[in-house]
Amino acid sequence: MTHHTHNLLWWQSGVIYQIYPRSFQDSSGDGVGDLAGIIQRLDYLSDTLGIDALWLSPFYPSPMADFGYDVANYTDVDPLFGDLAAFDRLVEEAHRRNIRVIIDFVPNHTSDQHPWFLESRSSRDNPKRDWYVWKDPKPDGSLPTNWLSHFGGAAWEWDEKNSQYYLHSFLKEQPDLNWRNPEVKAAMFDALRFWLERGVDGFRIDVAHYIMKDPDYRDNPLNPNPVTAHFKPVNEYDKYLHVHDKGHPDVHAVFREWRALLDAYGRERPRYSVGEIHIFDWAEWCRYYGANLDELHMPFNFALLWAPWQAAAIRKVVDGLEAALPEGAWPNYVLGNHDEPRLASRYGREQARLAAMLLLTLRGTPTLYYGDELGMVNVPVPPEKEQDPYGIRVPGMGRDPARTPMQWDATPNAGFALPEVKDLWLPLSPEYKEVNVARQLTGPRSLLNLYRRLLAYRRATPALHWGSYRALDAGTADCFVFLRQAGEQRLLVALNFTAQEQKLRLPEFGSGEIVVSTTMAREGKVNLADFSLRGNEGMIIEVR
Ligand code: GLC
Repeated sequence: MTHHTHNLLWWQSGVIYQIYPRSFQDSSGDGVGDLAGIIQRLDYLSDTLGIDALWLSPFYPSPMADFGYDVANYTDVDPLFGDLAAFDRLVEEAHRRNIRVIIDFVPNHTSDQHPWFLESRSSRDNPKRDWYVWKDPKPDGSLPTNWLSHFGGAAWEWDEKNSQYYLHSFLKEQPDLNWRNPEVKAAMFDALRFWLERGVDGFRIDVAHYIMKDPDYRDNPLNPNPVTAHFKPVNEYDKYLHVHDKGHPDVHAVFREWRALLDAYGRERPRYSVGEIHIFDWAEWCRYYGANLDELHMPFNFALLWAPWQAAAIRKVVDGLEAALPEGAWPNYVLGNHDEPRLASRYGREQARLAAMLLLTLRGTPTLYYGDELGMVNVPVPPEKEQDPYGIRVPGMGRDPARTPMQWDATPNAGFALPEVKDLWLPLSPEYKEVNVARQLTGPRSLLNLYRRLLAYRRATPALHWGSYRALDAGTADCFVFLRQAGEQRLLVALNFTAQEQKLRLPEFGSGEIVVSTTMAREGKVNLADFSLRGNEGMIIEVR
């Protein structure tokens, strides 16, 4: 037993829970969630569920063109969500419960209403002109590059006033900052310091690799194989290989400085950074840990999200990550967030139980998305209620269905807002009376109680924290089976990805004890030479 492996940091041993602030708890009666509402629900996170850190999607002042991912002031709270005093209270109350607070930071772009952009736009010789990316048309009059906006159409917007284009990788209301300008970097690092001083424990960095582009602004080449997505429809954006509009290698120098800043604050207590990095080539993705593990603490690993939900495909992702990880780099997994369809809608309610077990038993930090612990499904949002600008611009890509109000109980407005509140910002799930926290707490085999059981077991089990990982062949391709081992402690996790019963054979392990079954109806001894999983069942088995 090596000793240092026991001293994991909070973000390595802990479980992170993402809150979309608009949708967790409304305390002000306007039908939109807020910080005071989150404070009211902290006991749920600490005592009922038992998570270690929360990540808040943006709460900054914002015109809400992209629901807060268009920031108009990096050092304040939008009145919709409260104020700085409410934020301080949230940090204090969270810390009192031993919950760390991670905030979303959006470095690639601001709102077009940010004072920096208003200045930059005002004239060609404004001192902040170069804080954003302004370009002339190509000599033939066409756009400066063929780069596309993620949300549809060109990434360039013509500005009549000074006859130039500005770059926006997302909405035209989200102009990209020019991180090659040292003043921009200094201003953004000041904003990070502001929050570090206020006690935040870390940052989730929005589209982290976008901040550095090709300095020569070359066109992107065509993508020879645009079929990249598994459950999302292919759209115009996939027609190109995005080699020049993001992820330029100069990005790594910025993250080394970023990390140095966090490490300086880390002397007081450990701080953390996780980057939203949609890169699916392991070697390229791993570079964001830094050649000397001196960049991001972790790039988010979205590979499970995009993999077909089959035992072999999931194993391939995990084995691929394990093989690619540099020495000392810490793995992590994600199965849902505010940009993706709901987990229970992708895999179905039965397999959602298996997904919970997978996520909470793999080696590395799991990040959970609010409501997935209840099996919340995509909520149909009628066109006249659609809010997400992505869905409005690119039909089929709307993210509203996975951002609906948290389902706390069966009262009108589901406990998300007072019963008399008229309009919620997004509709409640029509099934909230059956699927909610209060009801699931009374059901011994509910999904919520399975999450609670898994979280409690994980917390108490060293093999799930710092134990090694090894995939096993148990005689069926329909099950994913792996071993977690820490010192003497050995656990088997066996997951049946089909609805049919499956026979497994692991004679080398002798006998074991079932400690958690996703059915919550099986316990006790098992002969590992010959045992079976029910349809959709997953088990954690302690090996003697
Ligand atoms: C990230 C966020 C997403 C947002 C986009 C632009 O992908 O997760 O919600 O729309 O960045 O900021």
